[in-house]
Amino acid sequence: MAAVHTGNGGKASKNGTAITTPSSEIVQEAKDAFAEVVTKHMTEKCGMSNAIYNPTDDNLPVGRCTSCHMPKLAKSGAYSTGPDFYGNQALVEGDQGSHVFDIVWPYESTATTQGGPVDPKYSTIYTRPDGVARSYKGVGYMPNSCSKCHAGARQASIPVTAY
Ligand code: HEC
Ligand code: HEC
Repeated sequence: MAAVHTGNGGKASKNGTAITTPSSEIVQEAKDAFAEVVTKHMTEKCGMSNAIYNPTDDNLPVGRCTSCHMPKLAKSGAYSTGPDFYGNQALVEGDQGSHVFDIVWPYESTATTQGGPVDPKYSTIYTRPDGVARSYKGVGYMPNSCSKCHAGARQASIPVTAY
């Protein structure tokens, strides 16, 4: 870690002695060691042996600790939505990261819906049977640690006819 940090212009010391800037080979060796140990972690903890470690890719940050441990479960501005396993629109993630560090498994987030219509026009306001207007986004299942990248870990709301 010190090699990568100092290689990027940071400062580190060992027993009070400053570590000199390492060669690019040493920095690469250190990054490879990260990739190996984090891939092992993902394999052991959630069976993700076939995922390619690429934590700096913002679209698919495989191996970035926060992608699983601080997933964006809450929102202040907006949720992003996408298809679930069946192609119905579901919440993918919000814009506020969890600060708990706990993994939120898909089975845990599916316990938190209020129910709503399976409607491809998820962003529209619809009228509940009791006449109250609600946005689909207000009632979808909560996102979880896996829903950003795995459609199968998302769940669209269950259609309900009465509240
Ligand atoms: C692909 C998802 C994923 C990524 C990425 C990930 N972890 Fe984990 N991590 C897990 C899961 C799943 C568990 C087990 C949680 C449980 O049992 O509830 C876990 C457990 C842990 C634990 C608890 C101790 C243990 O080993 O069980 C620590 C600490 C931890 N991870 C740190 C990290 C760090 C640091 C990173 C980044 C270098 C990281 N994790 C990246 C999924 C991930
Ligand atoms: C940052 C994106 C990302 C996150 C977050 C993530 N995964 Fe993955 N996962 C991948 C990619 C990419 C693959 C490899 C390609 C694939 O199988 O889709 C993968 C593969 C897997 C596989 C292997 C599938 C197979 O076909 O063998 C499992 C199981 C898995 N992930 C479980 C999880 C679980 C459980 C979580 C949440 C704790 C999680 N993943 C979170 C990106 C992610």
